[in-house]
Amino acid sequence: MAKKKLNIAMIGYGFMGRTHSNGFLKAPKFFNLDYEPVLKTICARNAEKAQEFATNWGYESIETDWRAVIKRKDIDLIDIASPNDTHCDIAVEAAKAGKMVMCEKPLGRTGAEAEKMLKAVEKAGVPNMVWYNYRRVPAVTLAKQWVQEGRLGRIFHYRAKFLQDWTMSQDLPQGGQGLWRLDAKVAGSGVTGDLLAHCIDTALWINGNIGSVTATTETFIKERKHVLTGKMEKVKIDDASLFLARFDNGSLATFESTRYARGHKALYTFEINGENGSLMWDLHDLHRLQYFNYKDEGPTRGWRSIHITDGDHPYMDHWWVPGLQIGYEHTFVHQAADFIQGLSSGKPASPTFKDGLATDYVTDAVLASAKSGRWVNVKKTK
Ligand SMILES: NC(=O)c1ccc[n+]([C@@H]2O[C@H](COP(=O)([O-])OP(=O)(O)OC[C@H]3O[C@@H](n4cnc5c(N)ncnc54)[C@H](O)[C@@H]3O)[C@@H](O)[C@H]2O)c1
Repeated sequence: MAKKKLNIAMIGYGFMGRTHSNGFLKAPKFFNLDYEPVLKTICARNAEKAQEFATNWGYESIETDWRAVIKRKDIDLIDIASPNDTHCDIAVEAAKAGKMVMCEKPLGRTGAEAEKMLKAVEKAGVPNMVWYNYRRVPAVTLAKQWVQEGRLGRIFHYRAKFLQDWTMSQDLPQGGQGLWRLDAKVAGSGVTGDLLAHCIDTALWINGNIGSVTATTETFIKERKHVLTGKMEKVKIDDASLFLARFDNGSLATFESTRYARGHKALYTFEINGENGSLMWDLHDLHRLQYFNYKDEGPTRGWRSIHITDGDHPYMDHWWVPGLQIGYEHTFVHQAADFIQGLSSGKPASPTFKDGLATDYVTDAVLASAKSGRWVNVKKTK
């Protein structure tokens, strides 16, 4: 039987434009889906580069203005893979036009922007999702399942960090293509909204709501040349952000992120300590889950390093044979597949815009606490 078509418009052909395009192309090859994703159009401001991208990835057409994309009748889904300052306007207009919306993280630059986006998709009743892809690393999904089923017992601690080192040079400019992450107008914030947002999304998913936070941030290099103006301008993003959190389940947490940890490129790790055991995960070794089970027999009790590649591990029955690994790009394939399966089942796959808003509320509270030096309560989604 011919499958229903899911006609996709991708906004942005950068890093995420590639991961999402790959995700949609691979999902129907490895998962049994009722819909066939169709790469209908790629939208970016430079027509020549958009055409190159379209030819390489198999998009049927190009557009240079996202508003024109939203007007098109032949598009079902708008996928926002452009910088943070574009998310809110595109998502709100797309929802108004009745399109499904998938959006890169952070959902909004602030909770206020994310609220508008959530309101728009709820009013229109359109399927929506935020690309917090780390949820779909099989080892991370398994960690969530084990905590949820009570394998670790009561949780006492959650510890997460995300470390990079690419902005340490004084000479690195801010703004424009490639460096928009250093421009607060475009990015919203620095590592808080960029890297910690990932750690927060995973933590909320695995360990429940965060009630309050106390934070400190630092901008180590105070002025950088702006690519678009050519002038030295104040740097308004946070280069490093550290916070303590109290979860509603009574556990305590530490979160740390920086782009000044020399030697680290993308070291995302988390550790969870419960009364019956602990779990550790590390993005650099993403197919492994470290597990300590206090109930193991005394003499053999110790940390186990489990290779999450067997058929009974999350997602792995869709891939190769047991023992063979998958990687970063597969998380986007899983997310595309889960989104499409959610359309068929009527049970929307998470994280939805509501989940994205919850993370934005935490990052808002972190930035407010860093400013005031006080504990700040995290707003709850309704
Ligand atoms: N899920 C993840 O792990 C992850 C990783 C990286 C980035 N991101 C998020 O993805 C988004 C994009 O980041 P990226 O690393 O792909 O950036 P990028 O700079 O590599 O690509 C951004 C793309 O958007 C295009 N663009 C900018 N303004 C536009 C506009 N008005 N209309 C159409 N296209 C426009 C640019 O030309 C470029 O092609 C950001 O929100 C970022 O936070 C998420």
